[in-house]
Formats: sequence, structure tokens, C-alpha cells
Amino acid sequence: MCRRHAAWCISILPVVSLLATTACEVGLPAGQEPHRQFNWTDMEDQPKIKPQRVDLFGTKPNGTIPTPAGAVATTEHPYRFQQDQAELAALAMTNPLPHSPEVIAKGKSVFENFCIVCHGPEAAGDGKVTKLFPKPPSLMRPKVREYTDGRIFHVPMRGQGSMPSYAKQLAPEELWSVVHYIRDMQSRLPVAPPDKRDLEAGAAAGAGEAGTGTGAGTSAGTGTGTGTTAGTGTAEAATGGIR
Ligand code: HEC
Repeated sequence: MCRRHAAWCISILPVVSLLATTACEVGLPAGQEPHRQFNWTDMEDQPKIKPQRVDLFGTKPNGTIPTPAGAVATTEHPYRFQQDQAELAALAMTNPLPHSPEVIAKGKSVFENFCIVCHGPEAAGDGKVTKLFPKPPSLMRPKVREYTDGRIFHVPMRGQGSMPSYAKQLAPEELWSVVHYIRDMQSRLPVAPPDKRDLEAGAAAGAGEAGTGTGAGTSAGTGTGTGTTAGTGTAEAATGGIR
């Protein structure tokens, strides 16, 4: 037909191509280039792995490789003791940080930012919010002096009684440094009298144990000494404790 009507064919060709171009642009905002170019190497058409896509038929690699259940990042060291496992935590962990002036200074700064509001400047349990919040017992009591470093560390990691956990706000190193600062205060400040609950617990455990508690508390250095001795020789002492 084109041979017979060559002139007609040539004259209609620009109109057809114009129509085709306009049709492609339908639906696009004025002034924008159409997204799909007439180009076979367009990135949209290239074979590729899309993120978050799973290949149902197993013929192509998945965009996201599923992580096995229970997998954790290599930088994560989840704390493995539950709240009610304070006694296990007390024996399994030793303080990985040295009792150096720098660590104590770091612990002081953490204590003054996170603990002082309830525990007070000398950990006597007289922090500013205690008018509204349950008053914590003094950390200078014989009982806390006898705690191992791991036992003290466990309290802000998991929370205890009405004290919430600080594991989301503070890194383990920061909490270990606070433990050193509490030890430092215990070595400088007088021994606080036992709490009512300590006496009840002591009475339940037997007169012999209650006597030991009071005796240990009277010597200023005992707090640190007890912590170190209790941790030494446990299976995990060398690893620093946290997993
Ligand atoms: C919101 C108030 C509050 C803050 C903040 C707080 N505590 Fe406590 N803390 C308490 C209370 C209340 C208790 C008593 C909990 C119980 O055994 O019933 C307590 C108990 C403790 C104990 C255990 C004492 C014992 O006799 O067993 C330790 C150790 C301790 N806190 C350390 C810390 C450290 C370290 C920080 C900062 C990282 C901190 N606390 C921040 C309220 C607080």
C-alpha cells in the first residue's frame, strides 16, 4: 500500500510518531521526562537482587539472607542473668575494670548523672526525688559492702524492687565504673546502720550470719576486699563476665 501511496505514508509518519511520544507522557506531571527511556540497558530492566525480596522458587539468591533464630550482632553481648538470678550473677562476674583514679572518676560522673537523684550524693538514700519516690536504702550498709562487684552490677542491669533497670541507658563499662565509685565511697564514708529488711533477712538466716554481716561492715576496706575475693577463681573471672 505504501508503494502506491508513498507520499501519503511519508506525510502521516511524523503524526504517528508524535502521537506515540505524547501517549508515553500521559499521566506524568508537566515538564517531566518520562521515566522509561527507549533504552534496553535501563537499570530498571537489568537483572538484579532487590533488597527485602525473597525468591520463592529458590532459583535466584535472596535480596535479604534470613538470619537464623537467636542470632545476635557480633558487637552485642546480651546480659544473660534474669532479674531473679542475682546470686548467680554475684558469683559469675568480676569487675573487668581496674580500680584506678580514672575509672573511679568516670563512675562518679555516671553516678551523679543517673543514680544521685534517688541515692543521694553519698549514697545514703536521700536523693532529691525521694520525697515522691520510695527512698532507697543506703549503699553504705554492711549488706552492700558485702555484695560482690557482680551483685552490685546486677541491680542497675536488671532493676531491683522499685528501682528500674538502667541497662538501656548505660553501657556495661559505665556500670562497672559506678561499682568502683560505690566501692570508693564505701572506703571513705562511715558504715550506715543495717536496714529493717537486712535485719529481718539476717534473723531468718540465723544469728550466726547476722553477726558476720555487722563485723565485716565495720572495717572500711572490707567492701572492696570482699568483692575481689568472691570473684577470684570463678570459671569466668578471666573473661570479664558479660556475654
Ligand atoms: C528512681 C530512683 C533510683 C535510681 C535513679 C537508682 N536507684 Fe538504685 N535503688 C533504688 C531503690 C528504691 C532501691 C531499693 C530497691 C529494693 O531492693 O527494693 C535501690 C537499690 C539499689 C541497690 C541495691 C541495694 C541493696 O541493698 O540491695 C544498688 C546496688 C543500687 N540501687 C545501685 C544503683 C545505681 C548504681 C544507680 C545508677 C546507675 C541507681 N541505683 C539508680 C532507686 C533508684
